[in-house]
Amino acid sequence: MKTLIFQGSPRRNGDCMMLVNEFLKHLEGEYRLLDAYYCDIKACIDCRYCYKNPGCSIKDGMQDVYEYIQDADNILIASPLNFAELTGPLLSVASRLQTFYCAEAFRKEKPVKKPKRGGIILVGGGDGKVDGAVRTAKLILHHMNMQKIFEPVVSHNTDRVLPRDDKEAMDGAARLAAFFNEVR
Ligand SMILES: Cc1cc2nc3c(=O)[nH]c(=O)nc-3n(C[C@H](O)[C@H](O)[C@H](O)COP(=O)(O)O)c2cc1C
Repeated sequence: MKTLIFQGSPRRNGDCMMLVNEFLKHLEGEYRLLDAYYCDIKACIDCRYCYKNPGCSIKDGMQDVYEYIQDADNILIASPLNFAELTGPLLSVASRLQTFYCAEAFRKEKPVKKPKRGGIILVGGGDGKVDGAVRTAKLILHHMNMQKIFEPVVSHNTDRVLPRDDKEAMDGAARLAAFFNEVR
């Protein structure tokens, strides 16, 4: 079983990673953690290569990720809220999934064959709404042939309470791993 994690925090030992690490404690199989802030992946430049061709005209770290996506059983999107959204670098990496959208919309192909399970982990300093970020995360997941998406795991108020002390969120991260493990 393979799991790909798109991780949107610049803080490698920060709040988001507290939940991701709890999730990983319970996850079976192999995984790949893609740190959006530290990877060699540029943003989509809307060159429209993929309107007519499979793949992407930009040859960078995303090429490996495209391959991993094909094999993956599960995809997790984990991010802090920034202005009630996923972080900019995570959206930038996700923009490269436009090739999958274009495959379906313009070339009438099914770009990702293997069906997958999806998950969403979000952390935020306040207690504002997460609807926008959840909607964006689901949109991104649906670019990759998502069959089932687990309920979002959210830790609010991280300014005051660390996610590791947020029992509901920590339990949610463990339950998300169990949901992914069912694939085996
Ligand atoms: C530029 C910026 C924008 C932010 N916007 C929000 C926001 O809209 N809502 C919120 O709840 N927290 C917001 N935060 C707070 C972070 O989401 C919060 O501190 C989070 O727990 C950080 O996670 P990390 O340690 O994994 O990076 C923002 C933080 C930054 C730096």
